[in-house]
Amino acid sequence: MEITNKPAERRYTIAVYPGSFDPVTNGHLDIIHRAAHVFDKLIVAVLNNTSKNPLFSVEERMELLRHATADLPNVEIDSFRDLLINYMKQKDAHLIVRGLRAVSDFEYELQMASTNRKLCEDIETFFMTSSPQFSYLSSSIVKEIARFQGPVGDLVPPVVEQALHEKYGEERSE
Ligand code: PNS
Repeated sequence: MEITNKPAERRYTIAVYPGSFDPVTNGHLDIIHRAAHVFDKLIVAVLNNTSKNPLFSVEERMELLRHATADLPNVEIDSFRDLLINYMKQKDAHLIVRGLRAVSDFEYELQMASTNRKLCEDIETFFMTSSPQFSYLSSSIVKEIARFQGPVGDLVPPVVEQALHEKYGEERSE
């Protein structure tokens, strides 16, 4: 491979941050804010996976994400139900963003990144390490706390806190 000092031609960068986001947490928002500074456009893509049993519908998850990212003009919220790489091709995007919280995330993330690379070698995965205060945070932990009426105000944006209260309030009164 020839190595030159010529700067690479600057391309408009479209990155996709895929995930379940059931619901979006402050850990996700940390990655979204930082990635939105790095890439020209960031598409946050919610997996529409019928085999999982999510707390929030895809539409609800997208609506919460829209509220929580309303201050970020280069962030778009979308959903997909295909292989991620097919969705990426459709969006003309070549970069996947994923957050890494701890070593325990690494094996699964490496497997996903390698699979996506095998399926399409033009696609690169970029890992962003989560800020230390979010290294333990996950949507599952948030749901567990909220289910038992615990405080989640420091873990999720206010719109999600409200939505969790409503969900688990509804469940209790059923
Ligand atoms: O937030 P999650 O649940 O860890 O996100 C996982 C996600 C949505 C990124 C992953 O399951 C995915 O990309 N699913 C789409 C199907 C696919 O392309 N699978 C091949 C790569 S393993």
